[in-house]
Amino acid sequence: MNDKLTHPYLLQVSDLSYDDIYKIFNRAKYFIDNYKAGTKFDDLKGISVALAFFENSTRTKLSFDLAAKRLSAEIINFQTSTSSLSKGESLIDTLRTIEAMGVDIYVVRHNCSGAAQFLQENTNGIIINAGDGKHEHPTQALLDTFTLYRHFGKLEGLRVCIIGDILHSRVARSDIAMLKILGAEVGLCSPGTLIPRAKDIWDVTLFDTIEEGVAWADTIILLRLQRERMESGILPSIREYTKYYGVTLQLFSKKPGLVLMHPGPVNYGVELDYELSSYPNVLIQTQVTHGVFIRMALLSLLGQYVKQSSKS
Ligand code: CP
Repeated sequence: MNDKLTHPYLLQVSDLSYDDIYKIFNRAKYFIDNYKAGTKFDDLKGISVALAFFENSTRTKLSFDLAAKRLSAEIINFQTSTSSLSKGESLIDTLRTIEAMGVDIYVVRHNCSGAAQFLQENTNGIIINAGDGKHEHPTQALLDTFTLYRHFGKLEGLRVCIIGDILHSRVARSDIAMLKILGAEVGLCSPGTLIPRAKDIWDVTLFDTIEEGVAWADTIILLRLQRERMESGILPSIREYTKYYGVTLQLFSKKPGLVLMHPGPVNYGVELDYELSSYPNVLIQTQVTHGVFIRMALLSLLGQYVKQSSKS
């Protein structure tokens, strides 16, 4: 295989071309088709991957960990709570320390927007952004669009309505950008206080009510209220949010064939009724499963840059 991506890093969706995205999808499909429990591929043999998560994660961290293991990488797990960050060591010194140990690829999550870019500019390794503040979460966009591609068979013209806290969501920013590259139509539905003022830059359709958004869409992507990033007073109450923007079984059942996705973690009872969690066409678990294969594909393709530089 020699099918390199345009850039030797992934900081944001705009780093990927249309062709890059389909290279990743095709590689993910290869892994799905050829993976059997316990199979190890040797794509990252001799390559070390640091999982540097400065902010909490379940899905992204575990799936990168599993993906790197399945590709036979050496893996370093960095825990903020037990690191020397608590003794005052800076972010850049922390990364340089890890770099001095001979790490090739860094998977970085941080609560500051732009942290991944900053590290890319200050280290020689390959940086993958696993979520930076409110900015971007490009591998989530890859697994979301891959899940839609597998379900519908195409993305051109597909109508996707993103519902919830757009303002604080790096997933929304990355999903909108990737869906547009892939030719899908995007709608947004959110309380006025939870959507950026400069939304016109996205070329999206705005919906005042969730009923209008659902009637328009082939797929709805729900977002969690990111209370950890919210100023107080931005919403009258959670109960009111649920009344106007929560998805119930009754609403979902009105439209046969409608697909529902959520990047997780889900706050059941707020944005989604629990009884919908394992309902047909609710693809939340499929997204998680695809996350491992998409991250295998990305690591495998970026690993070629490491192999090339070690030869030269
Ligand atoms: N979707 C997502 O980023 O989930 P985690 O925060 O659990 O990684």
